[in-house]
Amino acid sequence: LGETPPALLAEYAEAARAALDPGIWDFICGGAGDERAVARNTAAFEAVRLAPRVLTGVGAADLSVRLFGQSWGMPVAVAPMAHHTMVHPEGEVATVRAAGRFGVPTVVSTFAGRTFEELVAAATSPLWLQLYCFRDRGLTRELVERATAAGFAGLVLTVDVPQLGRRLRDVRNAFRLPDDVRPVNLPVSEAYSSTDVHARSDLDPALDWSVVDWLRSICPLPVLLKGILTPADAARAVEAEADGIIVSNHGGRQLDAAPATLDALPTVAEAVDGRCPVLLDGGVRAGRDIAAAVAHGADAVLVGRPVLYGLAAAGEEGAAGVLGILSEELTDVLLQTGRRSPADLDASLLFGAAAPAV
Ligand code: FNR
Repeated sequence: LGETPPALLAEYAEAARAALDPGIWDFICGGAGDERAVARNTAAFEAVRLAPRVLTGVGAADLSVRLFGQSWGMPVAVAPMAHHTMVHPEGEVATVRAAGRFGVPTVVSTFAGRTFEELVAAATSPLWLQLYCFRDRGLTRELVERATAAGFAGLVLTVDVPQLGRRLRDVRNAFRLPDDVRPVNLPVSEAYSSTDVHARSDLDPALDWSVVDWLRSICPLPVLLKGILTPADAARAVEAEADGIIVSNHGGRQLDAAPATLDALPTVAEAVDGRCPVLLDGGVRAGRDIAAAVAHGADAVLVGRPVLYGLAAAGEEGAAGVLGILSEELTDVLLQTGRRSPADLDASLLFGAAAPAV
C-alpha cells in the first residue's frame, strides 16, 4: 500500500491484484460462465439512488444492530470464503482479528486454512461455520461437532452448490491451489489439492430439504441457509424452521443466469415477512450498498471479495481497512440521509420508482 491509506474498497482490489499471483487473483475475482451474475450484482447496486431527508435533528449515527441474540457493530459480516491462507500466511486468523475490531461476525468456510480452535482463540466477535454437506455425513457431522465444541455461534449451510460452478478462468488457467494451502479442518487427502476435484468428489448433488432437519438433530446452534434467491424457497426455508436466510448467488460463482441479489431481495423479504432475519451478499462494495440492501429488506449484509483483497494487500490491517471504510461510509450515508440507525433505513430511503408514496 502507498503512503495514503485507501479510501475506497476498489483501491484495495487494485492493491491485491498487484500483489497476487494472476491465477489466484482470477480464482478470487472470477465467477461462473461469462460472469454475468458477477456483473449484475454490482450493477444493481450502482443503479440505486437514495433520497436524503433534511433537518431531521439526527446528531450522531449508531451503526449497531442485534441479530441472532448478539450485538453486531454494524449490519455487516464477513462472507465465508475458502483458503484465506492463499492470500496471506496468517489467513483467517488475521481476518477474524480484523472483524473483531468492528464487532462484526466472521463466517468461516469449510475450506478455511486455519483451525477452528486457532480462530476461536483470535476472535473477539462471533464466529459462524459455513458448512458444505458432504456425501460423507460422518465427516460433515465431525466438522459441526468440532466447531460447536470450539465455541462457534451458528451454522451457515450453503445450499447453492450442487456442484462447483463452471469457473472458466480457473479452467483456462488450469488453476491449482499452492501446495501449502490446505483446508486444515478436513482430513488430509490428495484430492484437496484441487478445488475442482474436491468439489466433484465430495459435495452431495442430491441434497434435499431433509438436510435442515438432520442438521438440527445433530446441533443446537442456529442454522442459516445461504444461497436462496426465490420467494418459494424462502417460504420453504421458514417452514423448515431455518433461523435465517442469506440471499446469495455465491458472488456469481455458481449459476451465471442468476439474478442480482439486490433484485431478488424484496420478494424474498416479503415471503419471509419478519419470521427470521434475511441477509444478503454479492456486490456490496460501499456503505451506500449496505444502506440500499437494508432499505430493500435485508437485516444485514455479508461482504466477500473485498475482505480478501484487504487481507492480500496488508494482512489484518488491510482487512480492517476494508471494514473501516464500510463503517465510515455507512455512518456518512446515515447522516447524509437524516437517519440515526440501520433500523431507520426503510423503503422511503429509495429514490424513484421503488419508493413508496410517503
Ligand atoms: C466464496 N464463496 C463461498 N461461499 C461459501 O458458502 N463457501 C465457501 O467456501 C466460499 N468460498 C469462496 C471463495 C472465494 C474466493 C469467493 C470470492 C467466494 C462465496 C461467498 O461466501 C459470497 O457468497 C460471495 O463472495 C459474496 O459476493 P462478493 O461480496 O464477493 O461480491
